[in-house]
Amino acid sequence: MTSKPFADIAVCVFDAYGTLFDVHSAVQRGGEALGNKAVAVSALWRQKQLEYAWLSDIMGAHLDLWETTTRGLDFALASFGVDDPALRARLLDLYRALTAYPEVAPVLRALRDGDIGTAILSNGSPQMLNAAVASAGLDQDFDAVLSVEDVGIHKPAAPAYQLAVDRLNIEPARVCFVSSNGWDIAGAARFGFAACWCNRLGLQQDRLPAGPAAVITSLAELPALVGVRA
Ligand code: LAC
Repeated sequence: MTSKPFADIAVCVFDAYGTLFDVHSAVQRGGEALGNKAVAVSALWRQKQLEYAWLSDIMGAHLDLWETTTRGLDFALASFGVDDPALRARLLDLYRALTAYPEVAPVLRALRDGDIGTAILSNGSPQMLNAAVASAGLDQDFDAVLSVEDVGIHKPAAPAYQLAVDRLNIEPARVCFVSSNGWDIAGAARFGFAACWCNRLGLQQDRLPAGPAAVITSLAELPALVGVRA
């Protein structure tokens, strides 16, 4: 990586869940019946969604993210003694239409006005991503929406990041990869992208084999980082 990793960026590639879309907005909007369990259910739901994605790959039994999202929710609700099919259905409906963080739309438009391309590279299934992007009104804001289902293995595995290089026809060093997930940033940095961690919650950096070239606390800092005057 050069001393100025973001000096020659052609495209910003975004993780979706946790970076563009608030994964906890489903429970926040539809989980009133969970009462004081709501935060813990949502956290366990997210944990199992990701664990099942990675473990299914390691086992050679790949599950797509919608499957791991539904199985993770079932695990989380059962763990807290909740048996409510109507609640389950509502939470899954809301997961298809997660709230986008408020700065997402203006940042995407500022980047494209500054001739920086925009794309998603997500573990989400194509159906999930299309629904989330459409419900957030962002369908005109990306040059590409890429799902790892096209390579059959989840990030942070290298073939997932290679999908973005192949589809966008771009060398890794000209990609600014943006994620709020430390594991995703580690995978992207190791692959060779200029990795920018959006650390909204002030979390500890994961102790993994690679790390970010930049840390921001809001996507609003991104245009300046890649040389676009906001
Ligand atoms: C994504 C989340 C799962 O790939 O990080 O969008």
